Amino acid sequence: MRDNILVIGSSGQIGTELVIELRKIYGNDHVVASDIIPSSEEIMSSGPYEKLDVTDADKLLAVVKKHHITQVYLLAAMLSAKAEKNVNFAWKLNMDSLFNILNLAKEKIIKKIFWPSSIAVFGPNTKKELTPQCALTEPNTVYGISKLTGERWCEYYFNKFNVDVVSIRYPGLIGWKSEPGGGTTDYAVHIFHEALKNNTYTCFLSEKTTLPMMYMNDAIRATIEIMQTKAENVKIRSSYNIAGCSFNPMQIAAQIKSKQVEFTINYKVDFRQEIANSWPQSIDDSEAMKDWKWKAQCNLEKITHDMLDNLRIKYNISK
Ligand code: SER
Repeated sequence: MRDNILVIGSSGQIGTELVIELRKIYGNDHVVASDIIPSSEEIMSSGPYEKLDVTDADKLLAVVKKHHITQVYLLAAMLSAKAEKNVNFAWKLNMDSLFNILNLAKEKIIKKIFWPSSIAVFGPNTKKELTPQCALTEPNTVYGISKLTGERWCEYYFNKFNVDVVSIRYPGLIGWKSEPGGGTTDYAVHIFHEALKNNTYTCFLSEKTTLPMMYMNDAIRATIEIMQTKAENVKIRSSYNIAGCSFNPMQIAAQIKSKQVEFTINYKVDFRQEIANSWPQSIDDSEAMKDWKWKAQCNLEKITHDMLDNLRIKYNISK
């Protein structure tokens, strides 16, 4: 039987790109997009879409049955900065959604789950450089606590109920097709848009705030690779560290300047600085490399080149 896939959160930063890639692999009709708001024109016109609030377990079950869903990618979540302003709702959304999906697999209604975790599971007492897989996890944000708790539940459902759930800890993600919403690493996307539109950007993190980042192409590839690898290769059922490249606002600004005639960056630090300060600066992803042959391909130079090229086309700006 062919797999039928449900992507929950298809209007978000990752979902916008993941649905299109999955449709290329599994066929348009076999990948159902879903979100509480409509998705991109490309998604809406190329295959099935369901309006779905994942915290509504009855509607979720109805959608899963209607489309004979076998695999779920659960991307709906409230990110770090937004969650600090909506503590109770963020916790409810991030946890209820996960339980609803884990329970569908426990009941054998679906077969496989992808659920993303984050570098936010680490906290201020964690080793910051090349943070290992099993480093101290003492997150001090609602988002980080929800992701760490989710990781423990994923592993628990795998051990106790044989639920085939896989997960990776995404770094900050950068892509040109969609914009992030409510994260601490969002600056690394907005900076490109503002550079092209206004030749200037005011950054909410300080110039030397180094964070782990990843280009969307790598993130999508990692997501699909861990879902497609044989189950026995997945030795970690909480969530895998994965790394792309690390840089700070000053370094990304320098790259943009090297590729564009005019650009200035200013700094106006806000509450997100404290969140960023609590996270690692770089990640050790050797377990993912060993177990399912993960390897990142993009560095800051390539990201900058690609972002500027594609956004110039999007905004109709000539070089
Ligand atoms: N990019 C996310 C955030 O900033 C981290 O997972 O919240």
